[in-house]
Amino acid sequence: MHALDRAKIYSCVGDHEKYPWKPMPWPGISNKVLFCDPVMGTTIELAKIDNGAVFPVHYHPTVQTLFLIKGRVRTEGRVITVGTFDVIPAGEKHGGYIAEEDSIQYKLFSAMPVYFLENGDVFYYKYDGTVEKIGATQLSAQNIMSAS
Ligand SMILES: [Fe+2]
Repeated sequence: MHALDRAKIYSCVGDHEKYPWKPMPWPGISNKVLFCDPVMGTTIELAKIDNGAVFPVHYHPTVQTLFLIKGRVRTEGRVITVGTFDVIPAGEKHGGYIAEEDSIQYKLFSAMPVYFLENGDVFYYKYDGTVEKIGATQLSAQNIMSAS
C-alpha cells in the first residue's frame, strides 16, 4: 500500500491530465484538488476559469495563495498574467476574477477551503474537492471533514 493511501491523504499523483475537472458552483469555473490533508485541511488545487467566466468576489477564513499558470485574468482594475504569485490573507475579499483567456490558477489553502460570498452564500469543499453550498449556521468542522 502506498504511504499516501495509509494516511488517507487525498491526492492526484502523477500526470494531472488523467484526473477530471470538477465543476464549481459558478458557470465556466472548475477545479481539481491535487492534495488535501484531512488532519490540517491544507489543500492544493488547480482552478480553471474559462474565457469570459467570472470567479465571484469572496473571502476565506484562512490564507490562500494563488499562482497563475495559464491565461490572463482581470481583477480589481489590474491584469494578472502568467507567472504572477499572490498571497491573500484570511478574511480579505478578492475577485471577481474575469478570465480574458482560458486560465488556470494554482492555489494553496492553509486549511480546508471555505468560500464566503458577498451575498451571504457559503460554500465548502468536501474531502475530494467537490464544492457544496451551505448556510453559515451549518458550518462546522464535523460536516466539512466527514463529507466524502
Ligand atoms: Fe479565493
